[in-house]
Amino acid sequence: MAVTQIDAEAAQRVRELDKRYVLHSWSVQNQIEPLPVAGAEGRYFWDYDGNRYLDFASQLVNVSIGHQHPRVVAAIKEQADRLCTIGPGVAHEARSELARLLAELTPGDLTMSFFTNGGAEANENAIKLARWYTGRHKIVARYRSYHGATAGAITLTGDPRRWPAEPGIPGVVRMLDPYTYRCPAGHPDPCPVCTGAPHLEELLQYEGPETVAAVILETIVGTNGIIVPPDGYLRAIREVCDRHGILLILDEVMAGFGRSGRWFACEHWDVVPDILTLAKGINSGYVPLGAMVIREPLADWVRDKYFAGGLTYSGHVLACASAVASIDAFREERIVENSAALGDVLAKELPLLAERHPSIGDVRGKGLFWGVELVRDRTTREPLVPFNASGQAAAPVARLAKAALERGLYLFVHWNVVMIAPPLTITREELDEGLAVLDEVLALADEHAA
Ligand SMILES: Cc1ncc(COP(=O)(O)O)c(C=O)c1O
Repeated sequence: MAVTQIDAEAAQRVRELDKRYVLHSWSVQNQIEPLPVAGAEGRYFWDYDGNRYLDFASQLVNVSIGHQHPRVVAAIKEQADRLCTIGPGVAHEARSELARLLAELTPGDLTMSFFTNGGAEANENAIKLARWYTGRHKIVARYRSYHGATAGAITLTGDPRRWPAEPGIPGVVRMLDPYTYRCPAGHPDPCPVCTGAPHLEELLQYEGPETVAAVILETIVGTNGIIVPPDGYLRAIREVCDRHGILLILDEVMAGFGRSGRWFACEHWDVVPDILTLAKGINSGYVPLGAMVIREPLADWVRDKYFAGGLTYSGHVLACASAVASIDAFREERIVENSAALGDVLAKELPLLAERHPSIGDVRGKGLFWGVELVRDRTTREPLVPFNASGQAAAPVARLAKAALERGLYLFVHWNVVMIAPPLTITREELDEGLAVLDEVLALADEHAA
C-alpha cells in the first residue's frame, strides 16, 4: 500500500489553511482539529505523519466500495477524457445506463430515476413529487431520523440537527420509532409503535389521512442509532399507506447498495416503496451523486406532465460513469455477498464483545451496518452519554473514539452509539483487526459502567 512519505510541512500547511478558510459541517469551528489526510486505499486512509487508519465508518458511511477502487478511478478518468460535463437536458450514455441499472437492481417496479447531487436533494424531490401526485400536503416522518440538511430534508429530520433550521417547511408531522431497546411506548406486547400500524393509524386519525401525501422512513435508521425495524413493521406501514392512498418513501441513502447485506434494505422484508431515495453507496461518493427512483405507476403518471424540478448537475456525467463502474464491480466482486457474509461474523462476534464489556447495552444491525449502544447500567439502560450530548457530556464516548484513532481505527460515534460500518469490501482479517482495537478501547467505556 502506497502510504505517503512523512511530510510534516505539508500537514502543517493543510491544517493552517483549513483552520483559517474552511467552514466545517456540524461543528464548533474552534473546538475541532480535523486530521489532514494524505491518501487512502482499500479500507485504509493515512495522514502525513505516517499513520494509517482502518476505516470502520466508510467515512460518512458512504465509501462502500473502499477507497480508490481502481475500476471506479479508471472509469472517471476515461469519462473525463471523453466528456467531463454536459447539461441535464441532453441524453448521455452514462446516465441512461445508470438509470437502466437502477431499474434492474431495485426491487419491484421501481423504474424511473431522477438524479441529484446527494441524499438531501433526492428526499426534497421525493416529497415534492409525493405532494404533487397526491394533491395532499402533509408528510409523516419519524423522530430518530436524518434525511439531509436542505430546507425540506432537515425539516423531515427528527433529530436535533433540525432545531436550528426551525420552523422549517410546513406540513411535516412526526411519528415514533420502532426502537425496541428504548421503546417510546414502553413496549407492551403487542407494541403499537414497534408493530407499526396502530401508532400510524392513530396519528392519521388525528391528522386526517386525506391530508397526508407520504410517509418517509429510513428503512434501517443510520446515524440515529442503527435501528433495525422488527419483522412485520415495514409491511404493516406499507399496508396502512395503501389503505389511505399515501405514498411510502424509503430513504436508503445510507442503508442501500449492499450496506445491510442485500442490495436494498427493504428487500429484507419484501417491501417495495413508491419512491426510493439513494446516494452514498451508489458510487461511494467518488463524485457526488444521489437518486430518486420511482415506481411504474408514478412514472406513467408523470410522463405527460411538466416536472417542475431540476438541477444543473442532474445526472452529472462523471458521477454516473463512476456509479456504473461501481455497480459493475459490486456484481463481479460479489461485494453485497461479502457484506452479508461478514455481517454474519459481526452477528456472532458483537454479542461476544457484549459479554466481555458491561458498557455494552445492545448490539444490533444487518450486513456491515451495526451499532453498539453504550450504557452506564444495563438494568436501567441509562445511556453512557445523554441524548444529544456534546462537549464534556459526550466525553466518555469521544475518549473512546480518540483512543481508537490513536490505535489506527477510525470510528463513527453518535452520542452513545458506536457504528460499525466499514467498506463492504473489507476482509475477515481487517474486520478482526478493527474488532480487536474496539475490544481494547471499550475498557474506557467500562470505567463508567456499573
Ligand atoms: C439516511 C440519510 N438520508 C439522507 C442523507 C443526506 O445525504 P446528503 O448528505 O448526501 O445530502 C443522509 C446523510 O448522511 C442519510 O444518512
